Amino acid sequence: MATKTAIKPTKTAKPDYPRIAVPPPGPKAQKIIALDKEYTSPSYIKEYGLVMAGGKGAMVEDVDGNRYIDWMAGIAVSATGYNHPAVVKAVQEQAGKFLHICGTDFYYEPMAKLCQKLAQLAPGGAKEKWRVFLSNSGAEAVEGAVKLARCHTGRSRLIAFDGAFHGRTYAALTLTQSKVKYKEGFGPFLPDVYHLPYDYPYAGIDGIAAAQRLFEREVSPREIAAVFIEPFQGEGGYVMPRPEFLKAWRKICDDNGILLIFDEIQTGVGRTGKMWAADYFGVTPDVLLTAKGLGSGLPIGAILAKERVMTWKQGTHGTTFGGNPVGCAAALATLALVEGELCENARKMGERLIAGLRKLSQKFACIGDVRGVGLMIGVEFVKDRATKEPAGELTHELELRAFSKGLLLLSCGKSVIRVAPPLVLNAYDVDTGLSILEECLRELTA
Ligand SMILES: Cc1ncc(COP(=O)(O)O)c(C=O)c1O
Repeated sequence: MATKTAIKPTKTAKPDYPRIAVPPPGPKAQKIIALDKEYTSPSYIKEYGLVMAGGKGAMVEDVDGNRYIDWMAGIAVSATGYNHPAVVKAVQEQAGKFLHICGTDFYYEPMAKLCQKLAQLAPGGAKEKWRVFLSNSGAEAVEGAVKLARCHTGRSRLIAFDGAFHGRTYAALTLTQSKVKYKEGFGPFLPDVYHLPYDYPYAGIDGIAAAQRLFEREVSPREIAAVFIEPFQGEGGYVMPRPEFLKAWRKICDDNGILLIFDEIQTGVGRTGKMWAADYFGVTPDVLLTAKGLGSGLPIGAILAKERVMTWKQGTHGTTFGGNPVGCAAALATLALVEGELCENARKMGERLIAGLRKLSQKFACIGDVRGVGLMIGVEFVKDRATKEPAGELTHELELRAFSKGLLLLSCGKSVIRVAPPLVLNAYDVDTGLSILEECLRELTA
């Protein structure tokens, strides 16, 4: 007769992070920072002295053995964490077969499959057929979209928004309007680009009214090729517009033959808890741009366009490395994870984070606004809640203090912490990060 043996509950070990063994940047980090400073371009920003050695999930380890909770994912990139086994396996398998052949001129299965997958995932369900062009980066996708818009419509003029960030190459930089230092000394830029106020409810800025003024006084909407919109503004300050703003632009575009282009380079691939922010807002663009999280850190981006819009002719646009087979393999593995479990996790963890941050905002008057959806959350810091004057210095000090205590943060806009962790973030990472944040705020506002 089988005897019953009591099953002892297995104790789950407490995570061994955050852990600050030596104040960062420690001695090994300092050596690498000194070498970097000696030889790298002075244009890099280098927010603070994090020198990465490894990571797992939403944990980052530095070269001195310090461990951090990561709330920034290398600027909203590492969607599946730093070395998800499924992504690493896909990359290793592909790397063992071949690294390159050039998708502009030849064929390979990972490219065809990734384009099929992205076309099937395009917003708006299966209502229309989409096609896909693969790039190396976000900026390259933006450049391609500008060319596609001009080529398809036969018009040259473009609209973008205050606070926009679309990249650093020339067309992308012309559309970018977030910080003057990105543009100072680099002109002339593309002609015929108009910037309008972005819808910014906390700042009281109505982005819909501004469009009417432009079309009444300055340019006919019939001459506009495309409108580039981040459906949730990233670098400009994690600004979440009213859904009506995006709906209004959909209507203007429909009425005037303008292409509505969503730059989802930061918002896409599950970050908002849906595959695309377009799905969250219920507005379908004509063209959608993705990069950042798509390859879990491998450089790959894409232009998704409705088939009736992607009308450029053979040979008119291409790229040597875009859609690299290893990047495609990483993207296919990433999309499977995001579709399968990570969208859902982003939604759940996002709700937990927003609730925790709103509680903190009741304790600390320097938090003016908490806004967001999924794991794309902006925390705006102000000197005074009545005037909403940005508290830029405090935001930067908060980043540094959190770093010294084992939490990685990243700012954007004038005084906003952008919370954009890997989508694999768990409840421990949320709760522990919140308590570190609270401790920092208590010390900074004492
Ligand atoms: C919304 C958006 N568009 C475009 C880009 C440019 O992408 P990349 O740096 O890959 O060129 C970025 C990068 O931060 C972005 O956030």
